Amino acid sequence: MAENSHEKTLSALGIAQPDQVAPLFAELLSKANAALQSARSAELFEQFRVQWLGRKSGVLTLVTDNWLKAASKDLKPAVGQALNKFKAELEAAMEAQRAAIESGPESAVSAKDRVDLSLPGVVRPVGSRHLIRQVFQEIEDIFVSIGFSVVEGPEIETPYYNFEALNIPEFHPVRDDMDTFYVEAQLDGSAKTLPGSLLLRTHTSPVQIRTMEERQPPVRVIVPGKVYRRDNPDATHSFMFHQIEGLAVDHDITFCDFTGTIEYFVKNFFGPGVKTRFRPSYFPFTEPSVEFDVSCIFCGGSGTAASGQTCGKCKGAGWIELFGAGMVDPAVYGFVNYDAKKVSGFAFGMGMDRLAMLKYGIDDIQAFFQNDVRFLKQFS
Ligand code: DAH
Repeated sequence: MAENSHEKTLSALGIAQPDQVAPLFAELLSKANAALQSARSAELFEQFRVQWLGRKSGVLTLVTDNWLKAASKDLKPAVGQALNKFKAELEAAMEAQRAAIESGPESAVSAKDRVDLSLPGVVRPVGSRHLIRQVFQEIEDIFVSIGFSVVEGPEIETPYYNFEALNIPEFHPVRDDMDTFYVEAQLDGSAKTLPGSLLLRTHTSPVQIRTMEERQPPVRVIVPGKVYRRDNPDATHSFMFHQIEGLAVDHDITFCDFTGTIEYFVKNFFGPGVKTRFRPSYFPFTEPSVEFDVSCIFCGGSGTAASGQTCGKCKGAGWIELFGAGMVDPAVYGFVNYDAKKVSGFAFGMGMDRLAMLKYGIDDIQAFFQNDVRFLKQFS
């Protein structure tokens, strides 16, 4: 068939017999199919549609004009019939191609690149809170439940807050136990501070002073945070560790409120079965000062381990030393302009790491800071 046979009439194509009509349409159909096969995108398909079905000069219009309308009487029935058949076949072929294009992208992608939605997803490891954080939270929850609120203070302190205002004057012997790191910090872009004028706090007690400077009684706060000392690392020492300070000051707080509060905390933290006791002690900022002990949580206070041998944790004493505390020394009120004749209160300072080690049976404080995932995972 000539290139554009549809542009010519049948007589120009030399077709005179009805049986010559069908082969002519068959050839046109195979031409249409070939063009349709390469129309693989929506745009190419549209181009094909305009070229073949376009009203003005589409192939079908020209075939109707040149082949059907211009046909002789003898040929017309055969041409009409063949044209209808051709239209139906072209329509079906176009429909199939349209469907293939629409479901296209996935079927077009090779099997190897196809996304298999039934495969299990990529599991990303989710972290968890460090045990120290978890224990902070446990302790905070206990104190918050009895009316304390949580406050924080700076880790870089002045000697005034860390020592003097806590009734620890320069050259007081307790400073020996609290040697620390002194820093020459550049504050607010101003000149460097003088050596010795700033230090890494040795305890959370300075926040007692900062809190009382800002608030009037009643004060009931706990202060979780990091503290620093010039200690060599071993199983029970670290140059950085954690404390929780507590302070309650009001107009009528007694020693009974103090021991009752501590007992409530200890029983909530270690379990209702433990006993507490206190022994006289000394801190410059409390008077009287005490050291709180808890009945040994490993041997139940008997001093004898399950094996029948002396309990290694309390060394047979049946008691474990927990933390220091006391009634706030009246001298401290002088530094914050509280009237020592009208107010009274208690304070305590707990070593957080030690509490966590006792409760969770950890025997080396360094485990908290080594970030060994095998250790951390046990508490996730
Ligand atoms: N600040 C003390 C220390 O780090 C602990 C302490 C003892 C805090 C008695 C207190 C307290 O508030 O009353 O060794």
